[in-house]
Amino acid sequence: MSDRSAAEDGAAVDALLVERLGLADRTLEAALATSRDEGLPDIAVSPLHGRLLTVLARAIGSRRILEIGTLGGYSTICLARAVEPDGEVVTLELDAHHADVASANLERAGLRDRVRIMVGPAAESLRSLRETEAAPFDFTFIDADKAAYPLYLDESVALSRPGALIVADNVVRRGRILDEGRDDPDVAGIRDFLRRVGDDPRLEGAATQTVGVKGWDGFALVRVRAREG
Ligand code: SAH
Ligand code: DHB
Ligand code: MG
Repeated sequence: MSDRSAAEDGAAVDALLVERLGLADRTLEAALATSRDEGLPDIAVSPLHGRLLTVLARAIGSRRILEIGTLGGYSTICLARAVEPDGEVVTLELDAHHADVASANLERAGLRDRVRIMVGPAAESLRSLRETEAAPFDFTFIDADKAAYPLYLDESVALSRPGALIVADNVVRRGRILDEGRDDPDVAGIRDFLRRVGDDPRLEGAATQTVGVKGWDGFALVRVRAREG
């Protein structure tokens, strides 16, 4: 038997894992189909990573979840499934059309009532959340413009409860984080984000590289320490 390669077989392995774990999901497939029909880019998380978000958010008992970057609501559905009906997902999206598609997808998924979509630049929505939110967030998923990941880290830490989890998508980008990235603000943003996680004593950071239907990428997992560590 010969070794296989992640580049050639990663997608087939994803398909096998989805099949064995019973993750085929008509609600999520319908949300993707609608997003495609509406002209949205094909950059939602994969089915496996969507389930990972659900499992992680549920594992820490999330009641309030913050998402930065909604697109058509694929990951939002995965996050909304992790909270009880009286919980809330607040999701931030710049593009009004993306937000409309997400709203319809969440409605069809039966989850619209536990999701608040804030339309506009995430930096502004985050500022207003800081001024108005009484209760902190248990879980944050950062997945919008990569250049602003350092800002999104600061804001989501400020909005987090002790022990909260922050997950950041796309921190590897086919290895492009190795490029110094002086002329690529996305790469510079991700590199700065990672350095800040490492430098901040309030944070306990991890990251992992991934392969599969979305190719070579990775995500960071950041825990906001409780006072005792
Ligand atoms: N989380 C989604 C994918 C998000 S794609 C999923 O996995 O299903 C990134 C999204 O971030 C896009 O919809 C884009 O419009 C949005 N975005 C980009 N810049 C933004 C900004 N400054 N503020 C808020 N959203 C932004
Ligand atoms: C892009 C953005 C994403 O959030 C992602 O998961 C994949 C690709 C992009 O902007 O190309
Ligand atoms: Mg992403």
